[in-house]
Amino acid sequence: MGLGYSVSVLSSINKQAAEALAEEFSWSLDQQDADVILSWREGALTVHVQSDGELAGFKPTSFDFSQITVGDKKQALARACGLHKHPQRIMDTCAGTGVDAFILNRLKADVFSCERNPVIFSLLRDAYSRSGSPNGWSITCGDACQFLDAQHFDCAYCDPMFSSDTKRRGAERKEMRLLRFLEQGPNDSDQVLDKVAASSIRRMVVKRPLRSPKLQFTDRQLANCIEGKGFRFDVFDRH
Ligand SMILES: C[S@@+](CC[C@H](N)C(=O)[O-])C[C@H]1O[C@@H](n2cnc3c(N)ncnc32)[C@H](O)[C@@H]1O
Repeated sequence: MGLGYSVSVLSSINKQAAEALAEEFSWSLDQQDADVILSWREGALTVHVQSDGELAGFKPTSFDFSQITVGDKKQALARACGLHKHPQRIMDTCAGTGVDAFILNRLKADVFSCERNPVIFSLLRDAYSRSGSPNGWSITCGDACQFLDAQHFDCAYCDPMFSSDTKRRGAERKEMRLLRFLEQGPNDSDQVLDKVAASSIRRMVVKRPLRSPKLQFTDRQLANCIEGKGFRFDVFDRH
């Protein structure tokens, strides 16, 4: 996919890995003035966005699951995905930082995560490896729409980027602001939602801002709305 910004991998710390990563995604090596710089710090792959005034002020950032509070199966995310009833095979269509998938997997779900943005995917893969590549969780780089019918899933979890106004953006976590920059392409969240809705996957869960309007799909009916902290999980069943 065309990213709309240049990416370079710095090789001073981890030469072999840097060369492999640059080659994998056709990024440049050691181009100091690239818009986005990937480099290793304290054993983790980090990203630094140089071309955005606000993000340039942030320290290079890595993804990390070590501080995540997993909670229990009664939490909104787990209930929305049906984990309070029985284990589930979940297609995580919008992996991002991998935090939601990490929680679902720790709560005994089998999770298959897709992330289409190669910079975000590289950071996710690094955090995933550092967390020991957990059993029952696999990650892949690509558009989730390609994988919907490839395997049997009980549930598709969808958390596409939704537009947020300037006021909300100020309150957004640093990682979300980063994702928003890195994902700067067209706002095509409808596409993945429509494809999931039309798939044979029985349960579809969409994470939405609390007060956003209800979505409607031809093949689905809204079965439940579960409120979380600042979010709502809309659960759709097939007709
Ligand atoms: C709001 S973030 C997801 C946050 C995630 N739930 C978490 O725990 O960090 C949305 C992510 O979905 C990815 N994405 C959007 N549409 C996608 C698609 N069709 N296939 C794969 N990834 C997609 C974006 O690149 C972005 O990283």
